[in-house]
This record gives sequence, structure tokens and C-alpha cells, in this order.
Amino acid sequence: MLANDVQHHYIEDRDGNRITEAMFQGRYYPAFPGVVERLERLPELRARGDDIVICAYPKSGTHWTWEIVTMLMIGKAETIPQEKTEQFLENVDQETLESQPSPRVLNTHILPDIYPPDLVRKKCKILRIQRNPKDVMVSYYHHIKDRVMYGYEHGKWPAFFELCMSGNVEYGSWFDYVIAWKKFEDENPDVPILHLQYENMIKDLSTAVEKIAGFLNVTADKSLCDAIAHACTFDNMKQSKAECYPKEKLERWYKKEYNLYRKGIVGDWKNWFTDAQNEEFEKEFKRRLQEAGISTKVE
Ligand code: A3P
Repeated sequence: MLANDVQHHYIEDRDGNRITEAMFQGRYYPAFPGVVERLERLPELRARGDDIVICAYPKSGTHWTWEIVTMLMIGKAETIPQEKTEQFLENVDQETLESQPSPRVLNTHILPDIYPPDLVRKKCKILRIQRNPKDVMVSYYHHIKDRVMYGYEHGKWPAFFELCMSGNVEYGSWFDYVIAWKKFEDENPDVPILHLQYENMIKDLSTAVEKIAGFLNVTADKSLCDAIAHACTFDNMKQSKAECYPKEKLERWYKKEYNLYRKGIVGDWKNWFTDAQNEEFEKEFKRRLQEAGISTKVE
């Protein structure tokens, strides 16, 4: 195997459809070339005191938050002519990260058990964005089904739902992710963490931008926050990001019709979950989160 290659592992659903993945320490990750080596090297990552890290379970609004934070750091409500993947820990080598100017807006979906220790030591600020896990699951289904790299184009929702509930997906189950980060937070009270909720951002984005600016100690008056909120609505981002990012770069990973900016709404799960699936989810949600002492609500 080439150093930059990746060994494939497969998640098989009940219909026999397979999802192509990489694996590290018993957990599945996107099979980007070199991903395993990159994960192995996370303990060596050299943090800078002004690094900002967005930590989110996949499909919770990571791209959205990255765009807002980056605009705030630059102080302009202008579309960033880059993708958040260029600062995505799973996707970028440390040498490349080292060459990037400060402040870096790192982002990742990893769980805290492999979170780079220097980011903790230097108390780098973390933004944790969370979204209704039912909408996350539906968004995740489209993400996996529509990206060529996964080979899951025939995957059906009922089978994917089962994979999510059993945690047989990239990064493991949403429940384990949220519980692990709660534990991290309890154990590291000195690390500044801002919690954001996708649904609140949809309701009132200007207020969310102001909150982020305050957390990051960025001087941003109301008109700048409003302008950033405007530039980062779903429709505006869908259009402006497509215009500024070279499509050829995306086509290697995506089917032509794949678009990260799929729907960007609250409650799409209602179009997908059956009553039985909803009941199963609610039961597990209550059980797992109550046990962990977490009081998140889903609607
Ligand atoms: P949907 O698939 O439900 O549309 P991530 O960046 O963590 O992968 O999350 C992707 C999800 O966030 C997608 O959800 C995407 O449409 C949504 N999203 C991206 N930008 C958004 C924005 N500006 N406003 C609302 N949702 C956005």
C-alpha cells in the first residue's frame, strides 16, 4: 500500500449495500487518502494559542459555522474563496496546517479521545455546533448515498437508519459523540467552549453571529454581524460558495448532482422517519441522554 493510500473497510447494511470507509482504532472515518496517518499523527499537532476549533458531529452545520467564523476573523461579510475542508483535521496534513496564517479556523468531527492534546493544553477556543439528530441522520443519509467515494448509491433509508441507531457509521453514533464531548467538557473546565444550536441559528442568525463574535473577542458591530448573517443564509451560501469554488475539485468526490447545500431546513426528518422509527429513536434518545445527565431536547 502507498503511504498516501488508504485501506478500505466496508460497512454492510441489512440489504447488502456497502459503504466504503477507512478505519482507525476501531472507528470508521471517511476514506480520504492518507487519513489514517493523519489521525495517527494528531497527538503531535502543534497548536497555536489563537487557533479556533469547530467540533461537530457530521451534518450539523460545520461548513456554515466555519464560514461565519472565518468572515468574523477577517472582519468582512465576503464569501470565503476557500472550503472548510482546507482546515479539516481529517483531511489536511500537519505541514499544510503549519503553513497557514493565524488565526486558523480548524474543524473536525473527531471524538475527544483523539483530540490533539496541545489544543487542550493551549486552551484553544472550541465551538460546538449541535443539530436535531433526526435531521442529522437524514442529512447524513444523503451525504453518504450521493458521494461517489462511499459506493452507497443504492442504499435505502430504512437500512441506513438502522446503521445510525447501531452506531455503524463514520465517527460512530451521534449519542456516543455527544456524550463523549459532554464528558470532555466536564473534565476540561478551562477550555472555552461555545455551544451553538443549528435550529436557533436558523431562527435568528444575526444574534448567533453576535454571540460568536463575543466569544471570539472580535470587534464586530451590529451592521457587520447583520451583513455576515445575510451572506451566510442558506440560499446565499449555496449560490456564492458554488461560484467561488472550482467545481473540478469537487467532482472527484461528488456525484454531479451532489450538493452539500441540500435543503438547510429544520424538520426534514418528518419526511423520512416512520412512526416506528421515531418511537425507536425517542426511546433511545431518552435512555442514552438521561443516563449521561444531558438535557438536550429534540422537536
Ligand atoms: P442538509 O443536508 O439537511 O441540507 P455539515 O457542514 O456539518 O456537513 O452540515 C451540512 C448541513 O448543513 C446540510 O444540511 C447543509 O445544507 C446545511 N447547511 C450548510 N450551510 C447552511 C446554511 N447557510 N444555513 C443552513 N443550513 C446550512
